[in-house]
Amino acid sequence: MKRVITYGTFDVLHYGHINLLKRARALGDYLIVVLSSDEFNAIKNKKSYYTYEQRKMILEACRYVDLVVPEHTWEQKVDDVKKYHVDVFVMGDDWSGKFDFLKEFCDVIYLPRTPDVCSTETKKHLIKN
Ligand code: CTP
Repeated sequence: MKRVITYGTFDVLHYGHINLLKRARALGDYLIVVLSSDEFNAIKNKKSYYTYEQRKMILEACRYVDLVVPEHTWEQKVDDVKKYHVDVFVMGDDWSGKFDFLKEFCDVIYLPRTPDVCSTETKKHLIKN
């Protein structure tokens, strides 16, 4: 079984995310999404619209996703790749070259981002009561 891993916040899940998850899953048989915890987002100066548990629930309902686990630090990637016996690490090409240090442990693939959509923009149109 070929295992694929990817990382992100996946807030207010949009078609750009689905496009990424679909292509990532097609590179293997099992897709692990390492989802930014709310605490890790705070470290990155990001605040998600949905909580970690809500984002996790939404991702788990996606047919391309097999497992969702939390991301707590920038440094956990090598440990994750070893722990989950990962064959392919996938990210959108906004991260191109940033994770090439993982090539020692698995394939590293950057997929083209879907144009004209992102969580930040989507959130601007949401009013939180
Ligand atoms: N992604 C993509 N195409 C988009 C938006 C995101 O392929 N239009 C990919 C990213 O490259 C990343 C994953 O989806 O691999 C999760 O990205 P994330 O940062 O959570 O989503 P964004 O919409 O980029 O969020 P933000 O606006 O907060 O940066």
